[in-house]
Amino acid sequence: MGKRFTTLGRYPSTRLRRNRREEWSRRLVAETRLSVDDLIWPVFVQEGTNARTPVESMPGVDRLTVDLFVEAAKQARDLGIPAIAIFPETDPAKKTPDAREAYNPDGLVCRAIIAAKKHVPGIGVVCDVALDPFNSDGHDGIVRDGYVQNDESLEALVKQAIVQTEAGADIQAPSDMMDGRIGAIRQALDAKGYIHAQIMSYAAKYASAFYNPFRDAIGSSGALKGDKKTYQMDYANSDEALREVGLDIEEGADMVMVKPGLPYLDIVRRVKDAFGVPTYAYQVSGEYAMLKGAADRGWLDWNKVLIETLTGFKRAGCDGVLTYGAVDAARLLKAK
Ligand code: PBG
Repeated sequence: MGKRFTTLGRYPSTRLRRNRREEWSRRLVAETRLSVDDLIWPVFVQEGTNARTPVESMPGVDRLTVDLFVEAAKQARDLGIPAIAIFPETDPAKKTPDAREAYNPDGLVCRAIIAAKKHVPGIGVVCDVALDPFNSDGHDGIVRDGYVQNDESLEALVKQAIVQTEAGADIQAPSDMMDGRIGAIRQALDAKGYIHAQIMSYAAKYASAFYNPFRDAIGSSGALKGDKKTYQMDYANSDEALREVGLDIEEGADMVMVKPGLPYLDIVRRVKDAFGVPTYAYQVSGEYAMLKGAADRGWLDWNKVLIETLTGFKRAGCDGVLTYGAVDAARLLKAK
């Protein structure tokens, strides 16, 4: 009896469960820390006043009129969320093949930026640079002869980045995946004297089926003709992501992003290891819908999967995450 006990006591001598046994000890050995400082909150805006419209395929997410968007931005700031990202739903009547509404200084996005900067100083404002919300073809660039034209699109994207910066946006986030857009935008911003305007490039952005709820939210799914495979990356590729990121850094990106998030954590790790620059991931609309939809049916615990996935992003090498769960995560982290 005694002998058996001794034998058991001797083997295994390395017991990884020792450090896991108590909560204080688990805290002491934790390698990754998730904090509110890691969060960027994407918010959808719409025309009108004092109205919110639920996005059906994103339970719990509403499109907000600018006045309510300002309240949301205040809430985010009060919770300590460093930045918000604006995504507009455009009136279909304003969508054209040249997507000119993208650089309308009186358009919805610019009005949202101005309102946020006026009423909620201190929160970072991120704006997408891409034509899809404004394009009658639903594409991120200008379509001619059935193809999304690269260099012609750059001209429109540059104008968009300039008006958004003029309105007061802090970070331009080109999500269009045209070649050369980061260099073109950096040069144009500098030429106008906006040397402090930051660029977060959607550097490795994949042609993904996880964006569908977002396209519902901004009302571009009906407009989109075909798919985005001639400019967004093939999900079979990862070396190519390093080339994309490398070019964007050379062209002047201050921060880079991998998108979508969870199925692409290997890309995050490679990017972070290869370049060591501020690296972000976008936990996109389809990822949110998947988790929240399951949680609403009682199949998952939303709070737990939210914190687990966000910690996973950080473990993979992210410096921050764009997530529709930012407010919930900030509240949970505060309560901890
Ligand atoms: C548009 C854009 C998309 C997203 C961010 N910017 C969609 C797309 O490329 O079709 C997706 C975000 C999400 O799914 O949450 N250029």
